[in-house]
Amino acid sequence: MSEKAKLDLGGQTIELPVMIGSEGEKAIDISKLRAETKYVTFDNGLGNTGACTSAITFINGAEGILRYRGYPIEQLADLSTFSEVSYLLINDKLPTKEELKTFNEKIGTAALLPKGITDMIDAFPKDSHPMGVIQSVTAALSAYYPELSGSDLSAEKKQEVIRQLMGQLKTIASHFYRRTQGLDPIAPDRSRNFTNDFLNMMFGEVDDDVADALQTLLILHADHEQNCSASTARVIGSSKANLFATISGAIGALWGPLHGGANQAVLEMLEEIQNDGGDYKKFIAKAKDKEDPFRLMGFGHRVYKNFDPRAKIIKEACNTVLEKLGVNDPLLDIAKGLEEEALKDPYFVDRKLYPNVDFYSGIIYRALGIPTNMFTVMFVLGRLPGWIAQWKELIDSPGMRITRPRQIYTGSTVREFVEINKR
Ligand code: SDX
Repeated sequence: MSEKAKLDLGGQTIELPVMIGSEGEKAIDISKLRAETKYVTFDNGLGNTGACTSAITFINGAEGILRYRGYPIEQLADLSTFSEVSYLLINDKLPTKEELKTFNEKIGTAALLPKGITDMIDAFPKDSHPMGVIQSVTAALSAYYPELSGSDLSAEKKQEVIRQLMGQLKTIASHFYRRTQGLDPIAPDRSRNFTNDFLNMMFGEVDDDVADALQTLLILHADHEQNCSASTARVIGSSKANLFATISGAIGALWGPLHGGANQAVLEMLEEIQNDGGDYKKFIAKAKDKEDPFRLMGFGHRVYKNFDPRAKIIKEACNTVLEKLGVNDPLLDIAKGLEEEALKDPYFVDRKLYPNVDFYSGIIYRALGIPTNMFTVMFVLGRLPGWIAQWKELIDSPGMRITRPRQIYTGSTVREFVEINKR
């Protein structure tokens, strides 16, 4: 007998079906609530509201579990490649050797940019934030690929636009970076894998340890179920807008310091603490002070109320990568001190605030030679296959509907217009 929820609305009682996911998560299906009761539900920030069913990523925030298509993040970070994880997320299967070879080759072939796009990148002021450049240029790509910008693409055209974006975003990012350094861009090289090719286009050389560390970081960032930017991708995709517009919107959502922009904000916070003399306990006090807008960036999470498993892996990688590269970064010591202090402070313990994926990632990016204002672009490159997978799952789902939430109106009730300024 399927489970039901009973809602007593004073004079009216309604029974609502209960949905149960493959990991035992439960949801009350309120699809018929408004039609039968005129009530809607209210959930500020949607922290208690399931917006979709999805088979892509599973997170258990209480136990710090993260799996992509059922595979534990720890195993993928240790054993897989970013291309293989991208294929897995998008196609719900691990690729055969041949499938992965073809996937990489087609991404490599699609990585070149039209001249109009490189001219657009070159026209941006050199001190532009790279996130604004990559967001604008991603949407502009649709002007050059009208055949991939329709609203009902065939399965093959979907795969083509997916490979196109997987290839071109890293070229856009590296092209702009080289220009800001007064350097000529380096063309994509289809004989290299995704990570290697990106590093070569950025720096003109590839250190194996750097490539391996970046591979791990990109895998850890690849998807995270219905986070702010993935939900944005779903909302835009639900209107049947093209994938270029969808990904451009997701990039915009990720830019915010409460979301992907936090990795840049963490580094700037650590530098502020260092420049202030390194007394991180002073900043813990600021983070706890409700009168002080300062927040401990890289700490806290809407879902994880335990350690973010990605933060654990990145923290371990920090030590390994910095040692391999012979980098001694005092900001790592400040970060470790902050973490140690916060994890024993009742303010953070009571609110279950732990380091999240952004807390240590910037220290590695810095050691890899990535400039601070490119940290969130690195998050874009990592999260791209996740956004694509979420978009594809949505538009391929039977009965897909445009997202259009309701509201509770709190403005003025009806009033007569008074003509003050003659038309
Ligand atoms: C990402 O959703 C995802 O999956 C995102 C992500 C992904 O992979 O896509 O994991 C990537 O975006 C990670 C989060 C990066 N952002 C930051 O590190 C910014 C700092 N963190 C916070 O702003 C905050 O923790 C959020 C935005 C991450 C979560 O915000 P919530 O869930 O809305 O929590 P909240 O603001 O309601 O905080 C609850 C309490 C409040 O105190 P009280 O009102 O209960 O007294 O905790 C406090 C907050 O003031 N709090 C913090 C804090 N985070 C929460 N206090 C100090 N420092 C912090 N960082």
